[in-house]
Amino acid sequence: MTTYADVYQSWKNDPEAFWMQAAEAIDWDEKPSKALFDLGDDMYEWFADGKVNTCWNAVDRHVEQGRADQVAIIHDSPITGTVHKITYRELKDRVASLAGALRAKGVEKGDRVIIYMPMVPEALEAMLACGRIGAIHSVVFGGFAAHELAVRIDDAKPKAIIAASCGLEPGRVVHYKPLLDGAIEQASHKPEFCVIFQREQEVAKLTEGRDVDWHGFQAGVEPADCLPVEGNHPSYILYTSGTTGQPKGVVRHTGGHLVALNWSMKNIYNVDPGDTFWAASDVGWVVGHSYICYAPLIHGNTTIVFEGKPVGTPDAGTFWRVISEHNVRSFFTAPTAFRAVKRDDPKGEFVGKYDLSGLRAVYLAGERADPDTINWAANVLGKPIYDHWWQTETGWTIAGMPAGIEALPVKVGSPTVPMPGYDVQILDEAGHPMKPGELGAIAVKLPLPPGTLPTLWNAEARFRKSYLEHFPGYYETGDAGMIDEDGYLYIMARTDDVINVAGHRLSTGAMEEVLANHPDVAECAVIGVSDELKGQLPVGFVCLTTGVNRPHDEIARECVAMVRDQIGPVAAFKLACVVDRLPKTRSGKILRATMVKIADGEAFKMPATIDDPAILDEIAEALKSIGYPKG
Ligand code: COA
Ligand code: AMP
Repeated sequence: MTTYADVYQSWKNDPEAFWMQAAEAIDWDEKPSKALFDLGDDMYEWFADGKVNTCWNAVDRHVEQGRADQVAIIHDSPITGTVHKITYRELKDRVASLAGALRAKGVEKGDRVIIYMPMVPEALEAMLACGRIGAIHSVVFGGFAAHELAVRIDDAKPKAIIAASCGLEPGRVVHYKPLLDGAIEQASHKPEFCVIFQREQEVAKLTEGRDVDWHGFQAGVEPADCLPVEGNHPSYILYTSGTTGQPKGVVRHTGGHLVALNWSMKNIYNVDPGDTFWAASDVGWVVGHSYICYAPLIHGNTTIVFEGKPVGTPDAGTFWRVISEHNVRSFFTAPTAFRAVKRDDPKGEFVGKYDLSGLRAVYLAGERADPDTINWAANVLGKPIYDHWWQTETGWTIAGMPAGIEALPVKVGSPTVPMPGYDVQILDEAGHPMKPGELGAIAVKLPLPPGTLPTLWNAEARFRKSYLEHFPGYYETGDAGMIDEDGYLYIMARTDDVINVAGHRLSTGAMEEVLANHPDVAECAVIGVSDELKGQLPVGFVCLTTGVNRPHDEIARECVAMVRDQIGPVAAFKLACVVDRLPKTRSGKILRATMVKIADGEAFKMPATIDDPAILDEIAEALKSIGYPKG
């Protein structure tokens, strides 16, 4: 029997041979001459001189190889009460037609296309259509406000934007079109045209001369064939939160993306072509890119596009209904979703109503999986629950359970072991490797494996500064943790200002930039406090400009509204309080970590460098007024 240790060692012994072999599973128009291209200066690319097309590998080849009538995409929308299936053959025709229409309007290889769509199959079709003609897509999550979309338009400079008329949240229609129009107005860069997919729940008014209708603009147009591109051609840019309001444009190259994602489907998620795989996330996040759209399709699986929530659409049994109705083999979700289900159905009574015999395992990622949630899920489902750890930057698992190779013992609290390609090490501040059991910064020895980011879009200096400079020769993950004696990894916390709210990665720095723009705010800090449901929640503290004496609750309400308006509802920023001063070190650094400890009711050591300890009492009072610490 092949073991995980064998496979990991075989990669370590000869990474080049390992990845060249994995690349055999991909259809290349021209095979790459080698796997790794070392560009010098810590920059690397994979399969750079191969020629390949993502859409061919995700769609057309399955049609040619006997999967034409297999369902490729199931759209299951408890919000609209509909289930709709699309076969690989239909998917090919739909994508070829959309790609042809984009090309007819001048979209060419290398042009950027922003996609702003909810959980409908057309979002995946738009992504695949871009790949078909070599255009580079950038999907923007629907829960972001117009300003965030504008920032991405200005950075990616898209030739076209593909959007839907609306998204559907429980009890609320999200009006995409006014958000899109607002964003284009705010942005300095203007797209040449927008393609609007009109949903029946809300038909948007098209802007003459700029907007075209999704169906109308495809009429009579010649479908496009797949255009082979270089292995190092960017297939997409996905923006993610960093420490400032300017998001980082993570670039994904075509060749490595195909090879790594295809490898992950059997070896990590343990599915075979033809099986149904479901990731309950959103196409706007990396999980949605990799595991709703690309990986399952590249591997010949059936994927589910789920438009609903874990609870309330209509109840806490929705997940189990979808798994049983579509015979899902492997299911991927975020711990927060299980916490929501557990809150509504603590005994797991809904589970018994459905036949989950086809389900083999559940995979959790996106945030720390707390042992309570894992144990609860394992109990009510009677299935293995595998935590796994990765990031937008990597696009696939850094550490996880290699279930398709060997089911290792689960250690609750650990996402298990590094995948081949990742030499994960724990480093101290000075970059020295630490011993097992010691807490430090988690870094990955360069080069990163195929499928991971080669750089940031138009921002190589930022790429180096964010990831490469702190620990020369390593990729800095931004997470802290440890490795135990058995080689299991533990992820404890972020080392930067990124917080994780309901599995959504958000920047407290970005929220601070918004608050700082309030006319009455002189200074501010945003921290992430622990939350039973969402993992973390942002809380803002603002100090007012001298002489302002308006009611504090009014100012706090305005702050909340500003973050919702500028970043979006997904920030879940609902708590702000006015304080006289912020606790700082003598050199002026705000003591955010100490504030978090006070909010979470944890013991803390008085920072030796604190300027005035009395301020911490004032912070504790302010937190008390908004109900923290809980319990
Ligand atoms: N478009 C528009 N608005 C959206 C949105 C979208 N795609 N997704 C979320 N929002 C809005 C929500 O409606 C909510 O608005 P509100 O303040 O008016 O209520 C706000 O953003 C916060 O959303 P969320 O944090 O998702 O909270 P929720 O209360 O709607 O649901 C959970 C709570 C736990 C059920 C939900 O967060 C969940 O299912 N999380 C799973 C996380 C996940 O899949 N993450 C992906 C990474 S793997
Ligand atoms: P994102 O880029 O949105 O996928 O967020 C990545 C970040 O989420 C990581 O750097 C971690 O901080 C956190 N994260 C993701 N998965 C896990 C996990 N399994 N355990 C702990 N933290 C996680």
